[in-house]
Amino acid sequence: MEYDVFKQKVGELCGIDLRHYKSQQMDRRINFLGQAWGVKDYDDYLNQLMTRPERFKEFMNRLTINVSEFFRNPERFHELWHQVLPDILKHRSRITIWSAGCSDGSEPYSVAIIVNELNAAAKVRILATDIDREIIRKAQEGIYTANEVKSLPEDLRLKYFEQKNHLFYLKPEIKQMVEFRHHNLLNDPFPSPVDLIICRNVVIYFTKEAKSMLYKKFIEALRPGGYILVGGTEPILNYRQLGLEHTLTSFYQKPRNPVVL
Ligand SMILES: C[S@@+](CC[C@H](N)C(=O)[O-])C[C@H]1O[C@@H](n2cnc3c(N)ncnc32)[C@H](O)[C@@H]1O
Repeated sequence: MEYDVFKQKVGELCGIDLRHYKSQQMDRRINFLGQAWGVKDYDDYLNQLMTRPERFKEFMNRLTINVSEFFRNPERFHELWHQVLPDILKHRSRITIWSAGCSDGSEPYSVAIIVNELNAAAKVRILATDIDREIIRKAQEGIYTANEVKSLPEDLRLKYFEQKNHLFYLKPEIKQMVEFRHHNLLNDPFPSPVDLIICRNVVIYFTKEAKSMLYKKFIEALRPGGYILVGGTEPILNYRQLGLEHTLTSFYQKPRNPVVL
């Protein structure tokens, strides 16, 4: 079997259209694993994925890259806490926040902690989605390593986690604030309207075309006055063209009253 045919079949098996991902990175990951397992050829590789669930799981893990942590880039969470969320809450009595590509839950749970600190839990719905069902299950468990909570201010860590045998168990009051769902950003309809979309370190793996399609759909899903928070290495360069305002580092806002030309 040719590599292109293999890649297409593998994509179908995983429910991910691999054409939308940057091919160099993806090819490197796929071939690295094939070598590690000592597959004979692409037929053998596909067969192993179809018949050995543990291999399929490992393959999915490698493809999706789930690295995350609480308060990743703490300055952004500080701005979210003290500027962005208070601004959104000032204008609306009920709001929806969407963590798109939420991985192990560190990101939406960080938001839930902030919302709780703002005494706004009753006004906020937090939706968290990811393409990887396995990582969603892990997120729902809410158990983390010291490394995953290292950027969290100590007072919050002590307040919201119980520590047992080097692991940190998130308290149920925060766990119950987040609604997890399986969702493929490249295929599935977007939740809408949303007041804040957090999509960080997900689109870096996508092609330029997939990324620009995604941002257009995010903007459609946003309520006027709503914000998008992106990753530090993935600024939206054409934000003006997309009708957004660049309010703070990595934050973009859909104007509350769009200018009519
Ligand atoms: C590196 S993690 C980022 C986690 C978190 N947003 C952060 O910045 O810490 C990337 C996540 O994107 C998810 N992902 C990749 N492709 C996706 C897609 N097409 N739809 C939804 N999630 C996707 C992966 O499963 C992974 O959990």
